[in-house]
Amino acid sequence: MTKVSLVLIFTVCLGSVSTLKAEDKNKFQPTKPIMNDIGETVYRLLPYVVNEGRFVDPKNDPELRVLLKKLSENVEKAKHAVQVGVEPFVYSRDVLRGHVREVNRVFTHGNKSYARWMLQSMFNICSSCHTQLGTESSWARALEPNTKWASDFDQAEFFFATRDYSKAFELYDKMIRGYPGNKLTTLQLETAFERQAAYFVKVKRTPQNGVDYMAKLQTASQVPEFLQNNAKAWAGLFRDWSKEKPVDLRAMNEAQFRKYVEEQLAPGLWDKLIDASEPRVITYLKVSTVLGDYLQTHPNTKLKAQIFLWLARCDRALNNNFFYSLADIYLRECIMRFSDSPVAVKCYEEYETSTMAAYSGSAGSFVPDEVNRELKRLKALVDKKQPKKE
Ligand code: HEC
Repeated sequence: MTKVSLVLIFTVCLGSVSTLKAEDKNKFQPTKPIMNDIGETVYRLLPYVVNEGRFVDPKNDPELRVLLKKLSENVEKAKHAVQVGVEPFVYSRDVLRGHVREVNRVFTHGNKSYARWMLQSMFNICSSCHTQLGTESSWARALEPNTKWASDFDQAEFFFATRDYSKAFELYDKMIRGYPGNKLTTLQLETAFERQAAYFVKVKRTPQNGVDYMAKLQTASQVPEFLQNNAKAWAGLFRDWSKEKPVDLRAMNEAQFRKYVEEQLAPGLWDKLIDASEPRVITYLKVSTVLGDYLQTHPNTKLKAQIFLWLARCDRALNNNFFYSLADIYLRECIMRFSDSPVAVKCYEEYETSTMAAYSGSAGSFVPDEVNRELKRLKALVDKKQPKKE
């Protein structure tokens, strides 16, 4: 069967706003105008973001300060945006607010290169939310005629971040075909491959198109071998997916959903392709999409702690390359909201491991006191609430 297994979920997901309670609706505002403001401010920041020299030039300080403040105000307004007040979007929303506040703080303290780097990584926060919507927008095309893009890559990234996925797709494709003559770095080329994979999994949700496209990249002799091998593993995983029966998430009970996700996450043939650097990407992208959809269609599911743990694992595996990783946020959510669930024990263990890893380096590990205290607090929370063993 070559049917699109996720089509059903996709239609369900568009109706998700209706899951809000009536009184919440009054508090919230339409999302679009707020997003337009965010998009416009980001667009005005773009010429600085893509050019280090311009960004750090003191002459541009006043203009940048105004734009960053404006971005902060726009993003704070997103707190009231109707579509992003529900799970799973609410996490990207809050991360974005924290991130932009931090950009402002860092910039004010004069660490401009770091502020610029943070603005670049911000695009992945936009995408962590937008790709889950599964829809597109051609909002950015109106800006196009007035823009001198710094490079094809920057142009593609902007279109991807603002949800113009078809346009971004064409641009990434052109870059891949033009390699190495176009002087794209290997890292940019790898990003282009990853964006194309995400396009077919999360946005289009059409595995057969994924098979066809990845089969082409698999034989693209101009790109490094590890990328050809990724494309090969990805084509294989898309092919497996295209043979699956369509699922109707809305009709699935918790036991069925758990079984479905566990089967999806079980390693298969293609996952083991050792010559590929990221063979399991399609699986993690797909599962994280399904989990996000399930949260929308079953807002009160009893599986929530488990879903946060799965989401964290998917995000961790995808790393920050694809989207901004919300792994630690999901784990904290699992620990704090479901401390009496046995799953919270696992969430805590994974959270502790990733926190320790973040503070270890070649010179051994140094974990600041406040971080240690926070770990202790979370651990106590879970220990206290666990059912007593007989
Ligand atoms: C928490 C989720 C979330 C985050 C984070 C987010 N957005 Fe959005 N964005 C949305 C939603 C939902 C829509 C669709 C609104 C609609 O069509 O009604 C949207 C739409 C847009 C649009 C299209 C508007 C249009 O008129 O079609 C732009 C531009 C945009 N976002 C820019 C951004 C940028 C830039 C960022 C990052 C700095 C960002 N957004 C972060 C949820 C988010």
